[in-house]
Amino acid sequence: MASMILGVGRAPGKVILFGEHAVVYGRPALAVPVTQVQAEAVVEPGEIGAGLTIVAADLGETIAVRAAPADHPLAAAARLTLVKFGLSDPDWRVTVHSTIPIASGMGSGAAVSAAIVRAVVEAGSWKLDCLRSKRGSSPAPPPPCSPADVSALVYEVEQLHHGTPSGIDNTVVVYGQPVYFVRGQPPQMFHIGLPFTLAIADTGIHSPTKVAVGDVRRAWEGEPLRFELLFDRVAAVVEAARSAIAAGQPERLGPLMDENHALLQEISVSSPELDALVAAARGAGALGAKLSGGGRGGNMIALVTEATAPQVADALRAAGAVNVIVSTVRTSDT
Ligand code: PMV
Repeated sequence: MASMILGVGRAPGKVILFGEHAVVYGRPALAVPVTQVQAEAVVEPGEIGAGLTIVAADLGETIAVRAAPADHPLAAAARLTLVKFGLSDPDWRVTVHSTIPIASGMGSGAAVSAAIVRAVVEAGSWKLDCLRSKRGSSPAPPPPCSPADVSALVYEVEQLHHGTPSGIDNTVVVYGQPVYFVRGQPPQMFHIGLPFTLAIADTGIHSPTKVAVGDVRRAWEGEPLRFELLFDRVAAVVEAARSAIAAGQPERLGPLMDENHALLQEISVSSPELDALVAAARGAGALGAKLSGGGRGGNMIALVTEATAPQVADALRAAGAVNVIVSTVRTSDT
């Protein structure tokens, strides 16, 4: 017999176009969703008395939320959402699947959390309706449904992954739109004047963002003036990139990507593997290329055209990329 679905949540992957690391220090950054990869969570009734259980299908892991440590990210996403509803421990099974590479700068952690939050919100709304109709009143709090609510919950979980996340990952995967982001400010969706295409290549090296962010913090503490100047230069690149994108002149992004990559090398978050992919992309005709996300491993991005995309993708694979995604960046109205 088919099981009853109580809630479904989804969220895309993302790449940071410009501004990673500097964004932790109050500078702006630009990020876009990548819809070719996504996380999905499905809530169904679970075993009676078992409470909320998460099945991380790709990892072959089953997590009993009530017994999981406080900092288990998947359990935390579900737990925080239930607390918002005032629901204790429903007998639900949440099955999670994701095609977003883990620890690779594509927002996998945030997207999985967002999918769980959304699925539990849907199931929780349904349960609240049942409780309301039984009690004939509405004593329960309203469900945390708005993108801002979901993003805030995912941010709480991100703090377990990252330590001091800027908030850019949760924002872009929850809103599913290109985002100009400054820490502590409401996110601004930005207009894409003319769609443009990226080749996104994975080094295959898992690199937890928390480690790279912690290393940058120690380096900044040691040489604050040097790092503040580097972050200011990144901010100038971000502003120039935003204008180029809004003006419908994406070809101007190539040199800006190269400049941002050079600054990230100085910030010491690149790696020989990332540098090799960046060089291969440029050699094969990309208009510019840079690492994307926390760095040290994970993904890089290259600006391509429809004509150059196949040759750049081939060159990236030949230079060691374990996966290449070609993705066109557009707003819903372009
Ligand atoms: O590695 P990712 O994609 O999670 O990106 C991290 C971006 C940083 O700027 C390095 C950290 C942050 O919290 O913004």
